[in-house]
Amino acid sequence: MSYPFQIKSFDEYKSAYKKSVDDREGFWGEVGLSFSWRNKWDKVLDWNFTEPNIQWFINGKLNITENCIDRHLKDLGDKPAFIWEPNNPQDRVRIVTYNRLHKRACQFAQVLKNNGVKKGDRVCIYMGMVPELAYAILGCARIGAIHSVVFGGFSAQSIADRLEDAKAEYIVTCDGAYRGEKIIPLKDVIDDALVGNKTVKRVIVYTRTRMPVSMIKGRDVWWEDEMEHAETQVEKNNVVSFPAEEMDAEDPLFILYTSGSTGKPKGVVHTCAGYMVYTTYSFVNVFQYKPGQVHFCTADIGWITGHSYIVYGPLAAGATSLMFEGIPTWPDAGRFWDIVDKHKVDILYTAPTAIRSLMGFGLKPFEGKDLSSLKVLGTVGEPINEEAWHWYDEHVGKKKCPIVDTWWQTETGSILISNLAGITPAKPTFATLPLPGVQPVLVDENGVEVTGSPAGGNLCIKAPWPSIIRTTYGDHERCRQNYFSAYKNLYQTGDGALRDEEGNYRITGRVDDVLNVSGHRIGTAEVENAINMHSDVVESAVVGFPHEIKGQGIYAYVICQHMHGDDDSMRKNITQTVARIIGAIAKPDKIQFVKGLPKTRSGKIMRRILRKIAEGETDNLGDTTTLLDPAIVEEIKNGKV
Ligand code: PRX
Repeated sequence: MSYPFQIKSFDEYKSAYKKSVDDREGFWGEVGLSFSWRNKWDKVLDWNFTEPNIQWFINGKLNITENCIDRHLKDLGDKPAFIWEPNNPQDRVRIVTYNRLHKRACQFAQVLKNNGVKKGDRVCIYMGMVPELAYAILGCARIGAIHSVVFGGFSAQSIADRLEDAKAEYIVTCDGAYRGEKIIPLKDVIDDALVGNKTVKRVIVYTRTRMPVSMIKGRDVWWEDEMEHAETQVEKNNVVSFPAEEMDAEDPLFILYTSGSTGKPKGVVHTCAGYMVYTTYSFVNVFQYKPGQVHFCTADIGWITGHSYIVYGPLAAGATSLMFEGIPTWPDAGRFWDIVDKHKVDILYTAPTAIRSLMGFGLKPFEGKDLSSLKVLGTVGEPINEEAWHWYDEHVGKKKCPIVDTWWQTETGSILISNLAGITPAKPTFATLPLPGVQPVLVDENGVEVTGSPAGGNLCIKAPWPSIIRTTYGDHERCRQNYFSAYKNLYQTGDGALRDEEGNYRITGRVDDVLNVSGHRIGTAEVENAINMHSDVVESAVVGFPHEIKGQGIYAYVICQHMHGDDDSMRKNITQTVARIIGAIAKPDKIQFVKGLPKTRSGKIMRRILRKIAEGETDNLGDTTTLLDPAIVEEIKNGKV
């Protein structure tokens, strides 16, 4: 596999960038030629940000699985597409070659067909990190069904909301999932999510943990039985085949739900061709992937990082992608280093929160581990602090590996701002320069572009790149309002950023009511809604505060009507309520019971004040004279937890 679009020097980067801005269509048209199409496109791009209406590779026909699998079979059939490292290091590693992946994805496509799934149907996938999760995703893509993967940490209620929003009729799940010492009962959660649901027709259950599950007649079927049956259907004369559905470039590929500043998660929609082209382009360039290397992205496939840099990007590039079922700290904090050593990992891509948590274990976990195979390190999900950056550089990369700080979002589909490993300069805590095709701008609160450098402002992007969000599922107006309405002709990221004299960007964090807890995006309104579900709660306000490991922690101010029990048991009940409604990832770290909230005369909560108190800054709270009841601030300050 060769990558004609791989950038090999800083000068090449500069000229690629210039071309991408001067002749956007010519630039991406050329990159597009490296892929396999059933029919080439008529026009590279048509767009406006007012509706928005964004179309890439217009009238191009393709199937992403032919790009991720079939086209590699001749040269790479026996090479590993996935190396799967189980939760328990004593268990067997699984190597999934491209041939095997082809067979399994085809078989699962047949399973979906046998169960009535058609092109355009939505399939919800709620599984642990097992190779079957990738087969399920690729099986959907093969027949043109739209997958909606839900992270295994979300609650039954969250799944029910997502099923309803996507109008999904099919679910693929596991009996349970291993995570360190824990077993997560995935099928039980699905059963709870389906109480009262009338639209789901079929649940396909893969056996991972052999924990007891209830199988409902007529609705639930076993993965293994279905795959066995499909095997005889797709395998004829020793040739495995399930014809891939011909997809339009702009047919939806998947929906992935993410939090925004309103209470309800949004179903971000990505389409086939643009997502494929840009995800592969960014994978090959940012990590400087070389054929044969082992790429280890530690994210869960339930998040966009796993979609783009465990599954689609690496596979389209014919890479070897390492998939890890477990967690970094079990059986001990040397787990990542064992994996790097055992599989001779070349590229390690992880999150600042994981780095910070491993820093806490000191250097002992590195003893006896050979990390010399590492060539490139990456981070994603949140700003990386200087200390974590240097620790990563020194103890993991041994000062020999470039670190790429990759900034992007669920909505952007792939990396937009990052240095290219060893090619463009790194600068600790800076995501640095935009990738070709990406035109960042900073705007002030009035929407006026801030030119020159150094500068700071709200980070927006000027024109579309191929993997930009197309719509929010079932509600296009919501997409327009969220991302394209604040500033004319700009995509609004919701992040703040600084730009230095060299044009490097440093992301400073969200400027909206979205928290970033351990790299997970959580809307404050979502957490408030969940807290308010508790029968004793009258009102609540949620803000973030700096947290040593998680980056941000969740601080909740809660007004209760009655206190059933002491503060501590009330706290536990509220936390349990949030876990039930959203999932354990959204549990507040701190809950302070208050008598009132600082509100303006028009009834708006002054979050700025609450944020400052949560951050421990009680002296300089700014102007409080516009508050309805300024005395409440004193009370809240005194009761800080
Ligand atoms: O605030 C930014 C932060 O994560 C947000 C996107 O979250 P999500 O859609 O869940 O995707 C996470 C994985 C791409 C962004 O708005 N973020 C992501 N990467 C970085 C970052 N903040 C600073 N530096 C980064 N490298």
